Amino acid sequence: MQQRNLGPRTVSAVGLGAMPMSIEGRPDEERSIATIHAALEAGVTLIDTADAYHLHADEVGHNEELIARALRSWGGDTSQVLVATKGGHLRPGDGSWTQDGRPEHLEEAAKASAKRLGVEAIGLYQFHRPDPDVPYAESVGALRDLLDEGVIELAGISNADVAQIDEANEVLGGRLVSVQNQFSPAFRSSLGELQHCAQLGVAFLPWSPLGGISNAGELGSRHGAFQEVADAHGVSVQRVALAWHLALAPVVIPIPGSSRPQSITDSARAAELTLTADEVAKLSEA
Ligand SMILES: NC(=O)c1ccc[n+]([C@@H]2O[C@H](COP(=O)([O-])OP(=O)(O)OC[C@H]3O[C@@H](n4cnc5c(N)ncnc54)[C@H](OP(=O)(O)O)[C@@H]3O)[C@@H](O)[C@H]2O)c1
Repeated sequence: MQQRNLGPRTVSAVGLGAMPMSIEGRPDEERSIATIHAALEAGVTLIDTADAYHLHADEVGHNEELIARALRSWGGDTSQVLVATKGGHLRPGDGSWTQDGRPEHLEEAAKASAKRLGVEAIGLYQFHRPDPDVPYAESVGALRDLLDEGVIELAGISNADVAQIDEANEVLGGRLVSVQNQFSPAFRSSLGELQHCAQLGVAFLPWSPLGGISNAGELGSRHGAFQEVADAHGVSVQRVALAWHLALAPVVIPIPGSSRPQSITDSARAAELTLTADEVAKLSEA
């Protein structure tokens, strides 16, 4: 598996987005564990989660606990696996996603996540989404304090614009290692943030890189150019989309979601699919 830098760590160029295994439409535990094990088998060493990836109000951290169980039951070496979690979103259980970016909440949430993950320090902790009711610097200040206290090893942000990326990096004293924003063939408006990360040398983790859980299967019919390139290579259109992400900049590490072993096994192989410069240009213009 091709490797990419994430701060001081080296991780697989394609990660696993674990959200579909804990929210609406989630599979049973056996299939979820098999999916995470398939990712590890394929060489995936970055798993993205969040404390808010759950369905019912009383199961905060469902996804974190699932990942912890899957890592424990895996027969191989997991020492190089980076589990990246997030705090700042809440799910009250009615299907909505609410926010709490207060420093005191983030401090408490990070400690609870570390406990669920069964680690002394969280590998990568990301502030999930700016809270309009809390000054951004105050929320990110909690991540700086968590770094200083050793509760988290690395700090990242999510759903941030260019100004917020710069502000976060300043608050963290230059220690921002990752930005996770929505980016896919269907949603390209965070290309500016991707390019900014490339200039800074900060990892850019595109979320919903295939267009999201309910749209990933329609990628080929909605984006004909991607289907044409997939047909030319004899591979899935999802694999081509991920290879295109990887070709955009060396800092890009897509985290495709999966709830089936077959999906992540196929997606992981995007790391070995090299597109020509003409193909990348065609897909970028499509
Ligand atoms: N920071 C944020 O605010 C935020 C928001 C949304 C998501 N995220 C993160 O980003 C991750 C990815 O986003 P997402 O899960 O919303 O959407 P996505 O990655 O665009 O699409 C996920 C869907 O793609 C399907 N899929 C994956 N690889 C495939 C392949 N090779 N062939 C066919 N189908 C394939 C999966 O199907 P199966 O389920 O059948 O395997 C899954 O349901 C999430 O899991 C989460 O970790 C972050």
